[in-house]
Amino acid sequence: MCGIVGYVGNKNCVPILLQGLKRLEYRGYDSAGIGIIQEHKSVVIKSKGKVSLLEEKVNELSLSSNIGIGHTRWATHGIPNEQNAHPHTNTDKTLFIIHNGIIENFQVLKNGLMALGYKFDSDTDSEVFAHLIDSFLAKGYNLSKSVQMALNEVDGTYGLAVIYSKEPDKIIAARKGSPLVIGLGNGENFIASDVSPLLAYTKNVIYLDDGEFAEIYKDSYLVKTIADEQIEKEIHEIDMSLDEIDKSGYAHFMLKEIMEQPESVRNSMRGRLLVEEGSAKLGGLTDVLDRLVSSKRIVISACGTSWHAALVGEYMLEQYARIPVEVEYASEFRYRNPLLSGEDSILFISQSGETADTLAALREAKNKGALALGICNVVGSTIARESISGVYIHAGPEIGVASTKAFTSQLVVLALITLLISRRRGLKAAECKKITEALVEIPSKIEKILKLNEGIERLAEEFKDSRNFLYLGRGYNFPVALEGALKLKEISYIHAEGYPAAEMKHGPIALIDEDMPVVFIAPKDSTYEKILSNIQEVRARGGRIIAVADSEDKEIDELVDFTIKIPRTIEILTPILTSIPLQLLAYHIAVKKGLDVDQPRNLAKSVTVE
Ligand code: AGP
Repeated sequence: MCGIVGYVGNKNCVPILLQGLKRLEYRGYDSAGIGIIQEHKSVVIKSKGKVSLLEEKVNELSLSSNIGIGHTRWATHGIPNEQNAHPHTNTDKTLFIIHNGIIENFQVLKNGLMALGYKFDSDTDSEVFAHLIDSFLAKGYNLSKSVQMALNEVDGTYGLAVIYSKEPDKIIAARKGSPLVIGLGNGENFIASDVSPLLAYTKNVIYLDDGEFAEIYKDSYLVKTIADEQIEKEIHEIDMSLDEIDKSGYAHFMLKEIMEQPESVRNSMRGRLLVEEGSAKLGGLTDVLDRLVSSKRIVISACGTSWHAALVGEYMLEQYARIPVEVEYASEFRYRNPLLSGEDSILFISQSGETADTLAALREAKNKGALALGICNVVGSTIARESISGVYIHAGPEIGVASTKAFTSQLVVLALITLLISRRRGLKAAECKKITEALVEIPSKIEKILKLNEGIERLAEEFKDSRNFLYLGRGYNFPVALEGALKLKEISYIHAEGYPAAEMKHGPIALIDEDMPVVFIAPKDSTYEKILSNIQEVRARGGRIIAVADSEDKEIDELVDFTIKIPRTIEILTPILTSIPLQLLAYHIAVKKGLDVDQPRNLAKSVTVE
């Protein structure tokens, strides 16, 4: 979703802002712009489409400035075009604002400002900020005070950065709902939506929290509440290198991230797996373990791929820990006044740790007194910081919009949590040891699956022109069917549905013909015989079948058109393996269709609006 970058220092900010915007491209956007103050005059350049188009425009001019802000916009109010791109300005173009989030009362504010004679150039809600702040500047307040007063009138969410040519030494930033991080350099400081634009310059950062407001100068900064109380903020050191956010020779981030899975999964387990004891050690849960283990119920809430991981978690925890588990879409959970008590634990899964719906659900759960725990990838993200406690999945930066390595690492962490709780609830060590031993073998099994890449690419050629796909699985692999379908639709724009295989005969079977490829996820687990019957049902109706099956499984070859044979593991861990060929299939189909795999249309990596 929208990206913010800002610089104040001694260098020319223009290349820094453009490079920063490129680093933020992965978040998803449809237009971009920069605003700088050059010799007390303000200059704004905007462009629809890619940052490279903005860069071409900027390169035609000779721009140089020590202070500026840049933005990638993901349209909410108003179509993606140059007018609606940020920065937005006040009438005399002395003030620039960039904004992430949504101003809910923008129409009321806009009407009021128009009645005062303010003219609007765009259809966005964000432009309200420029004129509203201007209205306070016109009354004689300084920039800092004017922004504060404007924020008091706004309902909604914002990550906001403002510069003003009459006070050209500072960036004002404020946060409510949309993430912002201040980067602290030497004689230069930065503001950004996440750490990726900062990594080339500094590792020292301050995460702004909701309701906070910052004045950022080249040699200093000040953080306050919007109510004007000064706050001391902790400085964090980012444990991430530039290499981790580069493609490292791969054609796409998505392929790189798929290929990284042996290592990312290893990192998720590192130092946490107690193989001989059949248990796990998760430092983030130590203080809350008694409460978690004695929960009457566990709820897991998330969105998208993380929600699919949650479904697998439900199977894991109910089978081994024997605690009732419910899985909830975060967006539904928060609005239905959920029944929660202090005896419930609720896990929030989020790769980015910034998903607005998941964050709102977390806050709702905390208000209701439940033990609210986070399972996040991005260190220092809002969900990670606001959870009572939690576990990082340590998958490393995930840049491709389609989540891949985060999913498999989420599953590993859910397996570790299952082990921890199950052992404490009396499950025999021997039983749990089967899981710990199988987990140790998972990375090398993933390596074997990744060697199937070329074969899967050939399969993609065969199916790239299909208009629809059905993904079917049972038990632990029903969520994998959902995930396989999501991967395909989000990057290849092919309509795909995931179903529990047995549900097919209650409706989707009507769709089956020779134009409907059906992907069965069919490892030899407790549902294998049942799924063979479902395969027969599709075969009898002429459907073309691809099966993800065990390498030793000969029986299935007779029944299906194509097989992807993967190493065997124990049932609880099969989703970690079966999901990977489906990631590769979606990836190759999208590439063969010539689509933008890492930045698919309309999608954002981190969905920070409701
Ligand atoms: C995954 O491929 C999607 N792009 C999307 O569904 C994502 O999983 C969802 O938006 C949740 O994101 P989160 O894990 O960062 O909260």
